[in-house]
Amino acid sequence: MRRPPRRQKDKKVDFGLKEKVAIITGGARGIGYADASALGAEGARIAINDLDAEAGATAVAALRAKGIDAECFAGDATDEATVKRLVDAIALRFGRVDILVNNAGIGVKPAYKVEEMPVEAWDKMINAHMRSTFLWSRAVIPHMRANGFGRIVSMCSMNFTGGGRPGVSHYAAAKAGILGLTQTMSKEVADDGITANAIAPGYVETELIAQFSPEMRNLITKQNPVGRMCHPDEVAALITFLCSTQAAFINGELICMDGGRRDFYWGN
Ligand SMILES: NC(=O)c1ccc[n+]([C@@H]2O[C@H](COP(=O)([O-])OP(=O)(O)OC[C@H]3O[C@@H](n4cnc5c(N)ncnc54)[C@H](O)[C@@H]3O)[C@@H](O)[C@H]2O)c1
Repeated sequence: MRRPPRRQKDKKVDFGLKEKVAIITGGARGIGYADASALGAEGARIAINDLDAEAGATAVAALRAKGIDAECFAGDATDEATVKRLVDAIALRFGRVDILVNNAGIGVKPAYKVEEMPVEAWDKMINAHMRSTFLWSRAVIPHMRANGFGRIVSMCSMNFTGGGRPGVSHYAAAKAGILGLTQTMSKEVADDGITANAIAPGYVETELIAQFSPEMRNLITKQNPVGRMCHPDEVAALITFLCSTQAAFINGELICMDGGRRDFYWGN
């Protein structure tokens, strides 16, 4: 009988997150919403950014129903003026900014081989992931320096660490860029109590994955040593730890959480 590692739901470590103010981009659903719930459950106050204002409002209502102090700051995470305006508004509403989770992103469909990739598709992907990560990080660092504390966690992906699945070079390149940004930034900010890390999950059960065919989902599950996809709460647990006061010496890291798969097997 197979007994793969199971998801653990209880936890007892003090993460030192009470009253910390956390921004989660793309926080209205999926992994971002799970991050908001997990950080909020540890006492953090939550600023959700999302392009989808309605979904953001629904997420905030759900967080508040759990007793979490949360607010939605809707807007395009890739737009320079919007990001500046939203970070100012968040600092005004909460009085400080301690944590940034660079989570906003878009799916890999439609996929293109490099020689067929429209420039628009390339730019859209790079902007949604890499440009947004740069803009939000740049805007929050002065607030974190003022606190003498900060945590920046950015979403990479197995689509990059696994060597890149054919058809998604724009996504893999964007995630590779996020790692380069993270590692360099981590050296620039550490002297003010700030860490910057990245995580690379394998396939996580969210709406981003819902676009895959049942055959593809079966293949993904079958090819993973753990025999299933990752749950958003598992990503949120890692992010919560990386954002905690316990994780002060983890800096400039890329942490893979892909069930041990590590690479793309062929056959899809
Ligand atoms: N689901 C996976 O298998 C998986 C695996 C590895 C990495 N990731 C990464 O994790 C992150 C979240 O993925 P998810 O599966 O939860 O996705 P999702 O599609 O469920 O949620 C993404 C959220 O980001 C928002 N968003 C998109 N563009 C935006 C923009 N320009 N400004 C503001 N908000 C924007 C969307 O409205 C949505 O609410 C992404 O960066 C993704 O690349 C996902």
